Amino acid sequence: MPAYTLVVNGAPRELEADADTPLLWVLRDVLGLTGTKYGCGAGLCRACTVHLDGEAIFSCQLPIAAVEGRNVTTIEGLSPDRSHPLQQAWIEEDVPQCGYCQPGQIMSAAALLERTPRPSDDEIDAWMAANLCRCGTYNRIRSAIRRAAAEGRRDD
Ligand code: FES
Ligand code: FES
Repeated sequence: MPAYTLVVNGAPRELEADADTPLLWVLRDVLGLTGTKYGCGAGLCRACTVHLDGEAIFSCQLPIAAVEGRNVTTIEGLSPDRSHPLQQAWIEEDVPQCGYCQPGQIMSAAALLERTPRPSDDEIDAWMAANLCRCGTYNRIRSAIRRAAAEGRRDD
């Protein structure tokens, strides 16, 4: 099998995998980072969202061969101690129900706040629309993103 080197949550990782293995399975099965979830495997739910060089992507749709030498951030790497404003806001708003979609929701929201630190409700809804939640936690997700954005404003 071919060998690949990528940077995951700030640390260089070397691994072997078939070239068409989706990044999601490399993260979960090879590297043991099971925070990133498998939902549909077809690019339809965003449960598998991680950051690739700072951009939110579906890890179920990206072959490992396309990730060589690049930076991947998973939910485990968002902060060392759950201190990211979104993680705090998620706790304060008691967002999760079953929790399955939530790592992907938080990683998508983190990419939004990186790009747009003060999003309007319309911008939040448009950005997060592709992240599906079977439990219907959408209102709490929106509240948590608002709260995290407000925390960011207080830090300005
Ligand atoms: S598991 Fe990747 S988009 Fe659904
Ligand atoms: S909290 Fe259950 S799928 Fe979103």
